[in-house]
Amino acid sequence: MNGPTSESTAGLGFDVDHDHVGWLTLDRPDSSVNTLTPALMQELDALLSQLESRIANGQILALVIHSGKEGSFIAGADIEAIAALSTAAEARAASAEGQRIFRRVERLRVPTIAAIDGACMGGGTELVLHCDYRVASDRDSTAIGLPEVRLGILPGFGGTVKLPALVGMQNALGIILSGKAVRPSRARRMGLVDLVVPAARFSTATREFVREVIGGRVEKSAPSLGFGQRMLERTGPGRRIMFGAARKQTVVEAGTFYPAPYKAIDVLAGAVGMKADDAYALEAEALGELAVTAESRSLVRVFRLSQSARRALPEDVARLKRPVRKMGVIGAGTMGGAIAELAAARDIPVVLKDIDQEALDSGLRHAGDLLRKAAAAKVFSEEKASLKFALITGTLDYDAMEGADAVVEAVVERMAVKQQVLREAESAAPEAVLATNTSSLSVDGMASGVERPGSVLGLHFFNPVHKMPLVEVIAGPRTDPGTLATGFGLVLALGKTPVLVADRPGFLVNRLLGPYLNEAGFLLEGGSAVEDIDGALEAFGMPMGPLRLLDEIGFDVARHASRELSAAFGERMQPSGVLDGMIEDGRLGRKNGLGFHRYENGRDGGADPTVDRLFGSGGSPTDEIGRRCLYVMVNEAAYALEEQVVDGPDPVDLAMVMGTGFPPFRGGLLRWADVEGIRTIHDALSDYADRIGNRFAPAPLLALLAEQNRTFTDIT
Ligand code: NAI
Repeated sequence: MNGPTSESTAGLGFDVDHDHVGWLTLDRPDSSVNTLTPALMQELDALLSQLESRIANGQILALVIHSGKEGSFIAGADIEAIAALSTAAEARAASAEGQRIFRRVERLRVPTIAAIDGACMGGGTELVLHCDYRVASDRDSTAIGLPEVRLGILPGFGGTVKLPALVGMQNALGIILSGKAVRPSRARRMGLVDLVVPAARFSTATREFVREVIGGRVEKSAPSLGFGQRMLERTGPGRRIMFGAARKQTVVEAGTFYPAPYKAIDVLAGAVGMKADDAYALEAEALGELAVTAESRSLVRVFRLSQSARRALPEDVARLKRPVRKMGVIGAGTMGGAIAELAAARDIPVVLKDIDQEALDSGLRHAGDLLRKAAAAKVFSEEKASLKFALITGTLDYDAMEGADAVVEAVVERMAVKQQVLREAESAAPEAVLATNTSSLSVDGMASGVERPGSVLGLHFFNPVHKMPLVEVIAGPRTDPGTLATGFGLVLALGKTPVLVADRPGFLVNRLLGPYLNEAGFLLEGGSAVEDIDGALEAFGMPMGPLRLLDEIGFDVARHASRELSAAFGERMQPSGVLDGMIEDGRLGRKNGLGFHRYENGRDGGADPTVDRLFGSGGSPTDEIGRRCLYVMVNEAAYALEEQVVDGPDPVDLAMVMGTGFPPFRGGLLRWADVEGIRTIHDALSDYADRIGNRFAPAPLLALLAEQNRTFTDIT
């Protein structure tokens, strides 16, 4: 198709072909994806004036909007522009301006066709909703979504007005409230796109479709609703039931911490029966209100941190990256099986090795289950899931590992065993970077066991691998820059978020979780109830309380980690006696059905009342529970910053959100600490240190910030 015209600065091109079809090409020159920057929107506005007069003169019979980026359409609005909105009025005006421009597209007096080959998100989706027709390719990356609620806002360029009109209210609610993208086949079924064509003949098929449209042979799609659906959508009582159910569902899925989905429901419900102008105005008003909420600011911040994490390596190091075309994974246990699945899901052939046939079989089964689950969730088709599974070779020897570009070891947590498998991997795949998934051992210690210590780095995945977005990337003092760049690139290729962390005990996330989990144990010993402890942290927004989290980790694993941390950091990481007590009582956590909660057939049956009896009674007030657990985590982050475990407070915030589920609406651990008040945290820690124990003694950096009346943000 056509490229941008030479005078385009923001990335818009326009050409008219010999069939009098206008081709509007989006191709931002300065970025690998198209985002709707304010400059690009202004260019579109100017182009529309030109188009309107050429259409009036009969020079153009149809307009196609497509992308010049191979396999990627429009990634959404410009996050920097959203972050820069400082008042509700400004946000409302930006929304109204976007709506005005897209409504000009809608009013063009020729058929408009969006040709979607690749991801179409946010503002991109709102643009295509203002076209008359939508053609989508069946490419893996093609998906259409409105992820705005994930940034604490709602679609503000007319999405809430146009989507229900096209696909019905029920479908629109699903798309807008979940923020999840819809794959082409489903989009076709709900009427969101008019045609799905094979990616290989996308260009030809689009041209054919345009010809059909010009010839008047294509009907505009209208939502095809069944009888029940019509009753729900088209009657007052039906709509009350539908919106009521959506609110209830939102409480279950998003909790009450996030205002955006509730506001979106209000806007969708409020706009029913409204004139278009009023409905657009209602949307802009709501966007203005949401864009300046603390929740949205925090979510936008975390999103920007995750984007900049991708560029954390200096340019001269990043350049040394080698592609990983084949991977090895050693150890087919909980982590190894899941890491192999991750590689296969991303189409990287992977050799999974163990020493035990049963363990290998179980690892392969685990990987297969995960691929099937992804297919069931419509991430890819079942046929693709089988093809991907075929990319995993299970083996008990090293022969098949030859030619691997990266090997990740995930064997038992013992230095001698890990050194040995890395040595073996090195001779089987001499060109490979050698990554260890250790959670507590020294990466440099492991490098000592191989001939090329420069090829060793740490890639610390989190459990469950398919759900947790974070990977800590650890360069030891001897790690080559090329090894680091290749490992870092692999993490990105696997769809994860890398955070660079120094080779220190517990790296970052486990080190900060250590005192938090310990404190939950001390509180239990002090007589607080399991439900009160977990309840306090869940009310704060943690995805699960600390004791419930210990159930997931398993008490044997957690005790091992806490002993390592206490050996490294001494008194302030001294564990409580709770894990010993639980293990003596025959409890290991979820894996044997006996934890702080009871589990039957893997289902959580709630807090186990007999646990409280094992320990004291009459514990701390609830607000003190939350403070003790969270403040020790902030304090440990201050120690980690002093030791330069990470490069400043931003990676701490990103890692805690991505690695522990620390509530994103709070913007991250240290951003939350700044809001809570450094002086407040410092003084409370000093008080606890006097009253309860020395483990609370404020870190020197925290004391300094408190004394100077500064925040973590100030040292970013
Ligand atoms: P696991 O016990 O489930 O699996 C270990 C596997 O390694 C077993 O299948 C075993 O047969 C195999 N193995 C042992 N020696 C071997 C050798 N010489 N060659 C090949 N295979 C060998 O362990 P898990 O939980 O998967 O942990 C693996 C590593 O990942 C450990 O270093 C652990 O610290 C780390 N890790 C674990 C996390 C977790 O939550 N389970 C989270 C993050 C890291």
